[in-house]
Amino acid sequence: MAIRIIVLAAGKGTRMKSSMPKVLHRLAGKPLLGHVLDTVSTLSPASITVVIGHGSDQVKDTITQNVNWAMQTEQLGTGHAVQQALDGIEDDDTVLITYGDVPLTRSETFKDLLDVTSKDQLGLLSLILDDPSGYGRIKRVNGAVTGVVEQKDATEEELRINEINAGVLAVNGGSLRTYLGQIDNNNAQGEYYLTDIFSLAVQAGQTIQTVHPSDEWEAEGINSREQLAELERVYQGEQAALLMAAGVTVRDPARLDVRGTLTTGTDNEIDVNCVFIGDCTLGNNVVIGPNCVIADSHIGDGTEIKANSVLEGTTLAKKCVIGPFARLRPGSTLAEGAKIGNFVETKNAQIGVGSKVNHLSYVGDSEVGVGVNVGAGTITANYDGANKHKTVMEDGVSIGSNSVLVAPVTIKRSATVGAGSVVTKEVPEDILSITRAERKDIKGWKRPVKKK
Ligand code: UD1
Ligand code: CA
Repeated sequence: MAIRIIVLAAGKGTRMKSSMPKVLHRLAGKPLLGHVLDTVSTLSPASITVVIGHGSDQVKDTITQNVNWAMQTEQLGTGHAVQQALDGIEDDDTVLITYGDVPLTRSETFKDLLDVTSKDQLGLLSLILDDPSGYGRIKRVNGAVTGVVEQKDATEEELRINEINAGVLAVNGGSLRTYLGQIDNNNAQGEYYLTDIFSLAVQAGQTIQTVHPSDEWEAEGINSREQLAELERVYQGEQAALLMAAGVTVRDPARLDVRGTLTTGTDNEIDVNCVFIGDCTLGNNVVIGPNCVIADSHIGDGTEIKANSVLEGTTLAKKCVIGPFARLRPGSTLAEGAKIGNFVETKNAQIGVGSKVNHLSYVGDSEVGVGVNVGAGTITANYDGANKHKTVMEDGVSIGSNSVLVAPVTIKRSATVGAGSVVTKEVPEDILSITRAERKDIKGWKRPVKKK
C-alpha cells in the first residue's frame, strides 16, 4: 500500500534551444526537476523514480535529491516512458505520475489526486481552458470520463472539448502494469500514449475521478524560455504574497526574487529589486534598501541594509547599519550596532559591538573588538602571496585613514594608529603609533613653467 512516484523527464526540450536538458533549467535558482522532486518528497513516498533519456548523465550529476533513475534511450512516448519505471512497483501500491518540466504543482493537489485513487478508481488532474489547443482532451459520457484523446488524434468535435489532461495522474500499481501491457502505438504520432490507460480502465469497469488544481499554473509545463520566465514570475509573485502575509512590507511584489528560503519576522521592509539566495533569515524591523543581493545570511532585529549592498554568508546582530554599496563576503559576523559603510569589503571578519568601518576599506581575516573605529581607506593586507594572515584590532582601537595593517598583526587595546601608517608589527596598548615619513617644507621652491 505504498505511494510510488514516477517523474517523466526523458524528453529533449527542443524549443529551449539549449545544450542543457530542459529539466535542468532553473526556476528560482533550482532545476525544474528539483522543484518537482522536493514537492513529491512531501508525500512520503516509498520511492521516486525519474525516467531520463536526453542528457541523462548531466541530469544525474546535477540533481541532488535521492531518487532512482530509469533510462529511456528512445523517446517512444509517455506510456513507454512509464514502462521503464515499473521495477519494484507492487500491485497494491498507488502510483503517482507527473512530469519533470511541470515545476509548480502544489503538494495539496498531488494529495487530492492520491485521495481519490483506489483499486477501482484512477485520479486524473484536469483543467478547463479557454484555449485547450495542444493538450489531450477529456472525453465524458453523461458526466463520466471515458478516456483522453490527444490533439493530433482528435475529431473536429473532440477538439472543441475544453477540459484538458494536465498530465498528472494516480493509479493502482497492478492496474497500471496491466494497461501498459495493452497499449500500442497505432495513433497519429506513432507513440505509446500513457493516456490510453484511461479508456482501458473504463472498459475494465474502473472509474476516472478528475481533480482540479487551485491555480492553472500548477499544471503548466515549460517548453520554451518564454514559459520559463512566465512561471518564474508566478513563483516569485507567490513568494512575495507569502512574505506580505507574514508581515513584511514588499515595496513592489513584481520586483523581488527569492531563490531559496527567506524566513522572516514581522515589520520588515524590502525595497525594490532585491534578490535573496539560499537560506536567509530576517528578524523583526529589518529595513532593506533597493538593489540588494543577500545570500545565505542572517540579519538581526532593527538592522538596516542600505541600497546596492551585496551580502553573502554573513551574520548580522541587531541594529547594524550596512551600505550603501557595501560588500560583505562569507564569514562576516557583526555584533550589535556595528556599521559597515560605502565601498567597504569585509571577508571572514568579526566586527565587535558598535564598531565602525565607514568608508572605502578592506577588512579581511580580522577580529575587530568593541567600539573600534576603522578610518576611511584602511586596508588589512591579509595575503602575502602564498598564505592568508590574521589582523586583530582590540577594543577601543582607532585606525587613521589610509593605513595598511600588514598581517599577521595586532593593534592592542585603545591604541591609535595615525593616518597613512603602514603597520607591520604589534602596536602596544593606549599609544599613538605613526609610521609616516617626516614632512619637509622647502621654501622658495618654484613650480616648473611651460616652455614657449
Ligand atoms: C502529454 C499528454 C497530453 C497532456 C499533456 C500535458 C500523452 C500521450 N499526452 O502530451 O494528454 O495534455 O502531456 O502537458 O501523454 N516524455 C518522456 N518520454 C517520452 C515522451 C515524453 O519522458 O517518450 C516526457 C517528456 O519529457 C515530458 C512529458 O513526458 O516531460 C510529456 O511529454 P510531451 O511530449 O510534452 O507530451 P505532450 O505531447 O505534451
Ligand atoms: Ca508537453
